[in-house]
Amino acid sequence: MFCFSSKFLWYCFIVLLCSGFLSAHLIGLSSVSGLSLEETMSRRMSSRSFTSQSLSDKQLLDVLWAAYGYVGNLRTVPKIGYGYPLVILSINSTGSYKYDPENNVLSVNDLTINKEIISNDFGSNTWVNDASVILVLVWDQSVSNNQYFASAQAGCVVQNVYLAAASLNLGTCCVDAIDFQALRNHLKLSANMTPLLVMPLSYPRGSYSQASPNYEIMTGNLPRVQYSSLSFEQALRNIPTAQQSTVDSLTSLQLSQLLWASYGYTSVTFDSSHHRTTPSALGIYPLVIFVSNATGLYRYEPDTHSVLEILQMDKRSAIADALSGQQWAANASTLLLITYDSSFNNGNTGDGGNLDHANIEIDAGAVIQQIVLEASALNLRSDVLYQGLENWNGAQAAVIRNTIGASSSIVPLYVISVGIANHATIPEISTVPFLFLMIATLAVIVSVKILRKRIFRGLLHY
Ligand SMILES: Cc1cc2nc3c(=O)[nH]c(=O)nc-3n(C[C@H](O)[C@H](O)[C@H](O)COP(=O)(O)O)c2cc1C
Repeated sequence: MFCFSSKFLWYCFIVLLCSGFLSAHLIGLSSVSGLSLEETMSRRMSSRSFTSQSLSDKQLLDVLWAAYGYVGNLRTVPKIGYGYPLVILSINSTGSYKYDPENNVLSVNDLTINKEIISNDFGSNTWVNDASVILVLVWDQSVSNNQYFASAQAGCVVQNVYLAAASLNLGTCCVDAIDFQALRNHLKLSANMTPLLVMPLSYPRGSYSQASPNYEIMTGNLPRVQYSSLSFEQALRNIPTAQQSTVDSLTSLQLSQLLWASYGYTSVTFDSSHHRTTPSALGIYPLVIFVSNATGLYRYEPDTHSVLEILQMDKRSAIADALSGQQWAANASTLLLITYDSSFNNGNTGDGGNLDHANIEIDAGAVIQQIVLEASALNLRSDVLYQGLENWNGAQAAVIRNTIGASSSIVPLYVISVGIANHATIPEISTVPFLFLMIATLAVIVSVKILRKRIFRGLLHY
């Protein structure tokens, strides 16, 4: 018979330690159906009518992890501006709870604050109260004081909640037509904490119908969108791997996938229109996506799923320069520019031209998240560039507008670089999860080798 030496047990211990570390970072949406990322994106829509069935704790945590959790030491949403300034409160009939992304748990916030207490804070959106859980996204100004960046990141979170809900057959809706002052008071928030929006989360009354990208309108010059092999959950988990990848150029299919994900139409109809991949305040969809690559500058036309050539010039370097001289981004295969068209919908952009453009930032954040997810599914690195764009329609936004020859109604908001070239110098990203993965793999290999040796010896002794 063979026996295990203390050396071997040490190896086992290392393997267990490493796999324990990894599994701690692999918690999340385990119960998601086998939908591909693009199918899940196609299902996304706002639900405003809910059954009385309660959510399980696991479902809630799964959604919260997808919304704002960790994948290794990266987050499920990109950094926009300084850090991660959002706090998610989850409120049900028993009290209010705070999401702790580091440990992926909910801890008690205040049991005296429950759904009943905040039930009059949603104005005409009284249906919010029918949901079993109400998520409140709160901006902590002590972490980052730029409301636009916080709102854009909130948009990323919003998109993840929509997609997680679609994955789990749950319903949700981004709601910001609420009485913020009353909500702030009821939540007993300190001066540096500002509620940005709420999202009811519950079982919807209607069921999700069969959904796909809207192939009927795909008559333009971009290839037909395909389903990738990753689900929404897998695309979230693949973000760290995708961030390590380099590629010299994008195929037209990759560009097609990215653009459809950013602002395309789905097959699901409401009234006489179609849903899009992202939500939009008042359903206005005032954003315009531009593409800058080596061959020129193009505008995405969601109605036909095509790109329209604007300039036959490579503007990547000039755009990167306007973004506080981040020349590394000029090495990206493609820059996607998210802009706001203030003349859209005959000038009715829903914000009345007010200075507070938070809604538009949330719309933009949802688009950013879609691009990050689709890039991840395509194993492409994506980076959100915001430096230089701290102020609404500031000086650098004007430089970008002039660079792309756009009219004065176009307000550049964010640029996303996709597919960094092999030779490029890119901003550093942490390698910690990969080190752990390497150590774990090494330990497994060594252990297997020793085990084989032991078994062999054991057989000889037998
Ligand atoms: C920033 C933002 C704020 C919104 N506020 C509300 C709201 O207060 N009430 C509401 O019913 N829907 C709200 N919505 C949802 C939009 O009305 C919805 O996304 C849009 O009509 C498109 O419909 P769909 O999401 O079902 O595709 C909001 C969406 C966003 C992105």
